[in-house]
Amino acid sequence: MKVLFAASEAAPFIKSGGLGDVIGSLPVALKGKQCQVSCVIPLHEKISQSVKDKMTFIANIFVPVAWRNQYCGLFLLEQDGVKWYFIDNEYYFKRGDALYGCYDDAERFAFFSRAVLEVLPLMEEMPDVIHCHDWQTALVPVFLRLFYHDRAEFDRIKTVFTIHNIEYQGIFGRDIMTNVLGIDEAEFENGFMEHGGQVNFMKSAIVCSDWVTTVSPSYAEEIKTPEFAHGLEGILSFHQGKLSGIINGISKKAFNPKTDKRLFAKYSADDLSGKQVNKAELQKMLNLPVRSDVPLIGMVTRLVSHKGIDMVTQVLSEILERDLQLVVVGTGDWQYEQFLKDRQWQYPSKLSVNIAFNTDLAQKVYAGCDMFLMPSRSEPCGLAQMIALNYGTIPIVRETGGLKDTVSNYNRESGEGNGFSFANCDAWELLRSIDAACDCYQDQAVWEQLSKKGIASDFTWKQSAKQYQKLYQSLIS
Ligand code: GLC
Repeated sequence: MKVLFAASEAAPFIKSGGLGDVIGSLPVALKGKQCQVSCVIPLHEKISQSVKDKMTFIANIFVPVAWRNQYCGLFLLEQDGVKWYFIDNEYYFKRGDALYGCYDDAERFAFFSRAVLEVLPLMEEMPDVIHCHDWQTALVPVFLRLFYHDRAEFDRIKTVFTIHNIEYQGIFGRDIMTNVLGIDEAEFENGFMEHGGQVNFMKSAIVCSDWVTTVSPSYAEEIKTPEFAHGLEGILSFHQGKLSGIINGISKKAFNPKTDKRLFAKYSADDLSGKQVNKAELQKMLNLPVRSDVPLIGMVTRLVSHKGIDMVTQVLSEILERDLQLVVVGTGDWQYEQFLKDRQWQYPSKLSVNIAFNTDLAQKVYAGCDMFLMPSRSEPCGLAQMIALNYGTIPIVRETGGLKDTVSNYNRESGEGNGFSFANCDAWELLRSIDAACDCYQDQAVWEQLSKKGIASDFTWKQSAKQYQKLYQSLIS
C-alpha cells in the first residue's frame, strides 16, 4: 500500500507548530513492509540551505491555477525511509519567515493542492491513498473529485482528511471561485464549496474525502457540537459515519531526557538527580531564586484565549500568592503579553515571562519544571502534555480533547492517574487543581513516583500508526 501525505509543514524541515511535528514523525512511524510512505510539502523559503542542498531535482511542470499556468519544480529528499517531496514556486513560497497569513493564501494553497495532484505521474508510483492535513491541503480531494475523476489512475485514489485544528478552516470570499480556484460557480451555489455565504476549504474536504479523522477521540466527539466546531458541527454530524479520532504520538527519539542535548543535564526514570540540576540551572538562567523545595510550574504556549491564558491571568495574583514559581514561554495576543510582563515586575522572584518562540528554552522548561500547566479551552490533541510527561514533569490540564485522552487526574488513594485535571473553563477550578498538585508535591516520595511514571509512559506512534494503517486498508479494499 502506498500512502502520500500532503501538508503545509513537516519537521525537521519546517515547522510552526504541532502540525509540523506530526507530519515529520507519523510517516516515519507508518513506513514498513506493508506501507510505503511519501510526503509532499511546499518548498518554503525558510527551509535551510543545507537541507535544500541535499535535495534532488526531479522535474518541472506547469500547474493550472484557474486560467493561468504556474511554474512548479519538484524536489526529492530521502530520509528515515520516507520520500519527502518539495513543491517549488518562488512566487508563492518565497515569503521570508511567513508560512501562512499572506494576502493571497487562497491562491498559494490552491496552487499547492493542484500541484500535489499534477506531480503524481512524476513519482515512481501513484499512491493508493492521499492523506491531507488541515485547510491548506483541503483542496486536494476537492480538485481530485472535480478535475481528475475521468482518469482511471486518479479515480482509484482514496483520500483521508485530518483536522488538526477546526478553528482554521480556510474561509475566503466567493470571488475566488473562478479566478483563483477555477471551479464553476455552480459548486458554490449547490452548497458544495459554500458555508455561511463564503468559500470554506475545510467544509468541502469534509464532504468529499473518503474518510475524515481528527487527532484525538474526544475531539472527534467535541467537533460535532457548536461549542467546539466553529460552525462546522452540522456538516460533521451529518458525516459522522466517516469520522474518527486517532490520538497523535510523539517521537521518543526527539523527546527523551536520556539523550536530549538541549538540557543542562540528562536523566532517566532510574536516576532523577539530573532533573534537579535542570531545575536549578533553569531558575538561575531565569533569575528566579534557586530553590529545590519550591514547585516550579512551566507553560509553553501561544498566548491566546483558547489556550486558557485568560483563566491564568484572571487568577494570576492568587497563583502568585502561593509559595511557587511560574515560568511562561510563548508569544501571542498583545494584551496577554503585556499583562504578564507587568506582573513579572510585581513578582520578580515568582514569575518569569519569556515572550518568544524558543524551542531551546521550551525544552529546558519541559525538563526543569516540576509541573506543566495547560488549561486549554479546546485542544485537538496537544503534544506538550505528552512531552512534559516524558520529561517527568506533571501536567495540570483542563479535561478537553486530547488532554482528556492522555492525562487523568491523580488519585492519591489508589495511585491511579498521571497528572491533575479540572473539568470546566473556570479559573477557580484551575486554581484548585494547582493547589492539589502543589499539595501532592509536598510528599516527595509520592511525587517522585508520579514523575517516574510520566517518564515511562508510552506516547509513541506505534498504536496510532496501526490504526491509520487499518483505516487505509479498509478504504482500499
Ligand atoms: C494543532 C492542535 C494541537 C495538535 C496539533 C497536531 O496544533 O492545536 O492540539 O496536537 O495540531 O495534531
